[in-house]
Amino acid sequence: MTNGTGDFDRRTFLASGTILAAAVPLAASAKTEGRKMDQAAAVKAETGVPITLRINGGDHRVTVDPRMTLLDTLRERLGLTGAKKGCDQGQCGACTVHLDGRASLSCLTLAVAAQGRDITTIEGLAAADGTLHPMQAAFVDNDAFQCGYCTPGQIMSAVAIVHDGHAKDANMIREAMSGNLCRCAAYPNIVAAIEQAAPQMKRG
Ligand code: FES
Ligand code: FES
Repeated sequence: MTNGTGDFDRRTFLASGTILAAAVPLAASAKTEGRKMDQAAAVKAETGVPITLRINGGDHRVTVDPRMTLLDTLRERLGLTGAKKGCDQGQCGACTVHLDGRASLSCLTLAVAAQGRDITTIEGLAAADGTLHPMQAAFVDNDAFQCGYCTPGQIMSAVAIVHDGHAKDANMIREAMSGNLCRCAAYPNIVAAIEQAAPQMKRG
């Protein structure tokens, strides 16, 4: 704006100077913020891999570190805490889930490697209306748990060995279930539960 002589009016000049003075730091701080966000996005891009996991019949999108196990992803990122972390070394079976129907140790499986597989956890075993799976009901009937920490893994393995045809008698069941440790030693009741559930599962 001019004062009619082509010169800037002093008041206008001072006002615009003040606005400019305020705008410069704002622009600088926006630039810094933008840079910080760019850096954060770069770090995320380096460490995070977006994946989709099909779990219990539903798709779950999650960004994970490529080194993250399926067990940690289920428990810490997706809130599915049914699979338990016992040894985290593939020795106790507490983390057992099904991958394409086969019993698998989720502590030894990378989440990125589970993409495209059908993942079933203990949360997905009961019917939608809450009716227990025959194996879950048989574990209850036979008191096949004490502390219960190993129970989800035991049940997932038990279901898988029946489907695989490895539960025809008590000896087969003991052998097939030997990868699942129970520190409370509820083994006889676990075998009894599997013997009870196996024929019901075949009927189902
Ligand atoms: S936690 Fe996976 S085998 Fe023990
Ligand atoms: S019921 Fe306690 S560890 Fe299995």
